[in-house]
Amino acid sequence: MFFRLLNHCRLVEGACRAAIYDLNSGKVLSVNSSAADLLVACQSRAVEDILADLPDAALFQSFLNMLAEKQLGSFYVVEPAARPADFPVPSPVLDFLWLELTAKCNNRCLHCYSESDIHSEETAVPHARWLELLCEARAEGATGVQLIGGEPLLYSSWQELVEKAAALQYQYIEIFTNATLIREEDIDFFKRHHVHVATTIYAAHAAVHDSVTKNPGSFERTLSAIKRMLAAGIPVRIASIIMKVNEAEAENILRLCQQLGVDPQPPDVIRPTGRGDDDSLLPENYRRLPVRPPFAVDPEDFFQAQCINPCLAGKIAVTANGDVFPCIFARSMVCGNILQTPLRDVIRGAALQTCWHTTKDCVEKCRDCEYRYACHDCRPLAQGADSEKNWLAASPGCSYNPYIGRWEDRDE
Ligand SMILES: C[S@@+](CC[C@H](N)C(=O)[O-])C[C@H]1O[C@@H](n2cnc3c(N)ncnc32)[C@H](O)[C@@H]1O
Repeated sequence: MFFRLLNHCRLVEGACRAAIYDLNSGKVLSVNSSAADLLVACQSRAVEDILADLPDAALFQSFLNMLAEKQLGSFYVVEPAARPADFPVPSPVLDFLWLELTAKCNNRCLHCYSESDIHSEETAVPHARWLELLCEARAEGATGVQLIGGEPLLYSSWQELVEKAAALQYQYIEIFTNATLIREEDIDFFKRHHVHVATTIYAAHAAVHDSVTKNPGSFERTLSAIKRMLAAGIPVRIASIIMKVNEAEAENILRLCQQLGVDPQPPDVIRPTGRGDDDSLLPENYRRLPVRPPFAVDPEDFFQAQCINPCLAGKIAVTANGDVFPCIFARSMVCGNILQTPLRDVIRGAALQTCWHTTKDCVEKCRDCEYRYACHDCRPLAQGADSEKNWLAASPGCSYNPYIGRWEDRDE
């Protein structure tokens, strides 16, 4: 008799334990190393031969029976043919770009990753190069663009870039703005060009919000613009970032979003980049959701996670001095500069491709973890939190120790 996991199941081994990924149900089942060894042995030997060498044969037999009952595996009288090869994962192509039009901002947020303020350097990228870049990116496959900064509305010709992106048929055009400078004519313009707007609220009242932005009156102006845009039917997304000064506001922000009729997104915690790389800003109690089982996985994600970084692949951020990063938070990962190099060469360059292909198989600790193709990971966050700023540092939000197969949370 032979035993195999069924075609929709995959065994992923970790340093101590392993996991069976059921690509039909999306469930990820943890198994110990003896069970994993048994399943590996079943790939090349008959079940009877394997069990004959094992003291706990009955236990192992019942494990295989259980897998068969749960339709995760099956017994075969004749050794089955090798499983067909998995579909190859296509190479990633550019899909989305952030354009940091200016480093200048009329706010001076405590935590700003780009360290923006009103005195930041002038944009080095000529306007004609931004326009050309939109064409190049579209030709490479990009369908989404976000204009950001600094404060993108301080870039004098931002409208022309929106018009160009619309003419090039970008499917998704978003402006990430603090919304303090939005005029009535801008709202009309957003509407005409189907622009989505993202903005940020740091509290449900002015005192705390303005203490983050260090711009008195910013809360009232942002809130007023949000209300006017919503009334005009503009799709508005509200982000919120939590740090020490506003951690008591997390619930209030969610409530305010609900009152405004905007889908409330759980607030994120500041990331250790730029001015945000300061432990004294960290919230004392508010935490982002920890990495935790049960994990869920779908076949596309499972196969992709083995070849590419699902979060980074297909994205670039271009700064006001022309530098290209794989993500707006990955500011030390310069992959080229569009003032010196055509975008197509930056995209095909080793630096960006390495970032796009940073799978968990490359990452410290994750590479030894059986959950590595099921959990989410943020490379810039892990890098920022690492004392040596190592791109491949283990994720700070994960307390799983794959070397002993245990979660090491304080409360566990
Ligand atoms: C850099 S701002 C630029 C757009 C605009 N000027 C604004 O203030 O919304 C874009 C977003 O990045 C967030 N952000 C800035 N620094 C951050 C950090 N260190 N960690 C997490 N989010 C950060 C801001 O809170 C804001 O939601």
